[in-house]
Amino acid sequence: MKYIIGNWKANKQFDEARAWIEQFGKFDFSKLTEDSQIIICPPYPFIAYYSEKIASLAHVSIGSQDLSRFDEGAYTGEITARSLSGIAKYAIIGHSERRSYFNESPDMLAEKAYKAKSAGIEPIFCVRGTDDPIPHGVKMIAYEPVAAIGTGQNEPVESIIAMKQKLKLTPDMAFIYGGSVNEKNSNVYLANPDIDGVLVGGASLDPIRFFEIATSCT
Ligand code: PGA
Repeated sequence: MKYIIGNWKANKQFDEARAWIEQFGKFDFSKLTEDSQIIICPPYPFIAYYSEKIASLAHVSIGSQDLSRFDEGAYTGEITARSLSGIAKYAIIGHSERRSYFNESPDMLAEKAYKAKSAGIEPIFCVRGTDDPIPHGVKMIAYEPVAAIGTGQNEPVESIIAMKQKLKLTPDMAFIYGGSVNEKNSNVYLANPDIDGVLVGGASLDPIRFFEIATSCT
C-alpha cells in the first residue's frame, strides 16, 4: 500500500474546504495505482462533511489530525475517538507540533493511540526520531524530522531508510515519510519499496498539487 496523507493543520474556512473537495472530486481517479490510499486530514469542523463528499471516491478516506486521550464525558472542547468513529478511519497522533505547542508527552500519546485503536480508528503515529517511543499496537509510523517540516528541506531517501532501520519496525508496520514533500519530490519517496507513503502538509492545501503527489508514483 502507498499512503498519501494530507495534513491541512489549522488552515482553511468552510467555503475554502468546500471548494477544495469540489475540485478534487473532479480529478481522474483511474490515474491512481490500485494500491494507493489517499487520506485527507482536514480540521475537525470539516470532517463529517468531507466523509460524505468522499464516499463515492475510490481510494480516498478521511483522517483526523489528533483526538482526545479521554473517553466521552465532561471534557469541554475535546473530540473523542468515539465521536470520530464512523467518519474518520485514521488519526494522526503525536505530530511534532502537538508535542511542542501542546506539551503532549509519550504517555499521553500512548493513551491517544490506544483510544483510537479501541474505536476502530487507525493511528498514524508520528515520530521525530528514535527518542520518541512507539506505543504498543501501532501499525503506521510517520517519520517526520523537525528540520524538514515546512522548511523546503526534505530529507534524502538514504537517511530516511537509515532511520527506518534504527526504529526497528516489524514487517507488518507501514513506514511513512513527512517533511516538505511536494509534487516535485514525492516520486522519489513513493517509488521506493522501503517507504509506504508520504505525509504532506503545505502542498496538500492545494488540491491540484495534492493530486499530482498522489499520482506521482504511476
Ligand atoms: P510540510 O508538513 O509538508 O508542510 O513540511 C508536513 C507535516 O508536518 O506533516
